[in-house]
Amino acid sequence: MKHLLKLADLSREEILSLLNLADQLKYERAHGTPHELLKGKKLGMIFQKSSTRTRVSFEVGMYELGGYALFLSNRDLQIGRGEPVEDTARVLSRYLDGIMIRTFEQKEVEDLAKYGSIPIINGLTDYCHPCQVLADLMTIREHKGTFDGLKLCFVGDGNNMANSLMVGAIKTGMKFAISCPKGYEPDAQLVRWAKENGECLVTDNVEEAAAGADVLYTDVWASMGQEEEKAKREKAFAGFQINTKIMKAANKGAMVLHCLPAHRGEEITADVLEEHANEIFDEAENRLHAQKAVMVKCMGAK
Ligand code: CP
Ligand code: NVA
Repeated sequence: MKHLLKLADLSREEILSLLNLADQLKYERAHGTPHELLKGKKLGMIFQKSSTRTRVSFEVGMYELGGYALFLSNRDLQIGRGEPVEDTARVLSRYLDGIMIRTFEQKEVEDLAKYGSIPIINGLTDYCHPCQVLADLMTIREHKGTFDGLKLCFVGDGNNMANSLMVGAIKTGMKFAISCPKGYEPDAQLVRWAKENGECLVTDNVEEAAAGADVLYTDVWASMGQEEEKAKREKAFAGFQINTKIMKAANKGAMVLHCLPAHRGEEITADVLEEHANEIFDEAENRLHAQKAVMVKCMGAK
């Protein structure tokens, strides 16, 4: 694996192999087994948006793998003052062994890969969030033991999370359903692909989407960069919430996941979040193990 630009680029086998490695790294960490698979490697982490989990999991992960991670904020880099991506990519390729980038446009991530000569890892764009979904898949398999026959239901905005979850669910053989308000559907091309390659339902009826679900997932109504639409979105998304009523439509023992940060009382109620805190915080922890697996696959010895 050279890069992780989006989940759609990976085969089912590549995804499963990443998840297996993440499980192994988690086990080894718990047992104090050293695993310096990236000894001496340097990762640049470019952030054009805020982050808690992504930054800390990559930085700590790199340390635990024997490498070094540099936090590169948009405020300090020349890229924030307009230096072209194609120049930044070629310069950073001379210093680093890999780049993780969180930004707005997917094209910027693709361009870094096109003009640079080192592995590029997508740490979230407006289009997708593949690193998060690898941790989500790891958590689902950890709690449910399998992906076979499961239904994953996403409630809320057809955003970066919805796009990546849809791809991740279909690639691992799960059924996918999303309930979102009209006009807030996931990427149309990805929906077409999902319907051609598995079972995928897009509806504005929350109970219909949640019916028989084994995993319920939600994310904020207004993503980073959409702060000005907050009021409009609060109106549009009223009712698109994971709450006890929706939990009743799902299968008994259904999991609840949230990529975090969560807005209690908006996309999820506080009581449902707390009831499923063990799953949601396992999911957050698994960012560390999944991100280590991604770095090893992209930057490790081939
Ligand atoms: N879920 C996630 O990506 O969290 P951060 O924005 O804190 O990195
Ligand atoms: N959809 C959210 C995900 C945050 C991890 C955002 O892009 O802000």
